[in-house]
Amino acid sequence: MSNQKLRTFVDRYLSGDQSSEVLQGIKDYYLNRSHVWVEALDHPSVFRRFKWIYLCLKHKSIDSSILDIGSWTGCIADGLCQSGFRDITCLDICPKVCEVGSTTFPHLNFVQGDIEEWESDKKFDIILACEVLEHIFDPMAALTKIRSWLTKGGLALVTVPILEKLSSDINPEHITIVTNEQLGKFGKVVRISSRTEEWYACSIRG
Ligand SMILES: C[S@@+](CC[C@H](N)C(=O)[O-])C[C@H]1O[C@@H](n2cnc3c(N)ncnc32)[C@H](O)[C@@H]1O
Repeated sequence: MSNQKLRTFVDRYLSGDQSSEVLQGIKDYYLNRSHVWVEALDHPSVFRRFKWIYLCLKHKSIDSSILDIGSWTGCIADGLCQSGFRDITCLDICPKVCEVGSTTFPHLNFVQGDIEEWESDKKFDIILACEVLEHIFDPMAALTKIRSWLTKGGLALVTVPILEKLSSDINPEHITIVTNEQLGKFGKVVRISSRTEEWYACSIRG
């Protein structure tokens, strides 16, 4: 699906059209996406997220089970693997993302699924959901799921971009604003401090 077509669906969605044609049209963009690449861990934006995650997990056992939701092709998960973590599942809605990710990083376990529908039959010690909640229709429901999938003492790390307003002109993939206040309801909000800050971040305890 072209970006223009996605924009049309997202414009309709942001104007209040929640017809099944629009909702499915937006999901189809991810399901049929074919232009997929492997991000470098040292890409500045990715690396800042990775550094924050790494520091938050510094004292966690390398035997911890990790679920990375909206993992893209897995460079953050692979970075954690290189830090010693071995049990990592990457969940992404896009089949091509999972295909490229599992070919590039065969030691990661890729699962194709939509966080809004997927149900886990196990709990995880660590759950990551970085830069994904703004892509879905109901981020609060996803956060509720995430919290329920944490083991006792588990930790979820969530980041979302700070946006003043939604517009398909800014990024047609962003359909939802998640605020600092909403994140605060789910955990201890850790606003990453930096002058060029672009994210809200939150950690949720299981
Ligand atoms: C902006 S990327 C974030 C990648 C990575 N987490 C990071 O922090 O660099 C968003 C990812 O979320 C995935 N995604 C979008 N909607 C999703 C959904 N409903 N369920 C699971 N993954 C989804 C996309 O395919 C994409 O890989």
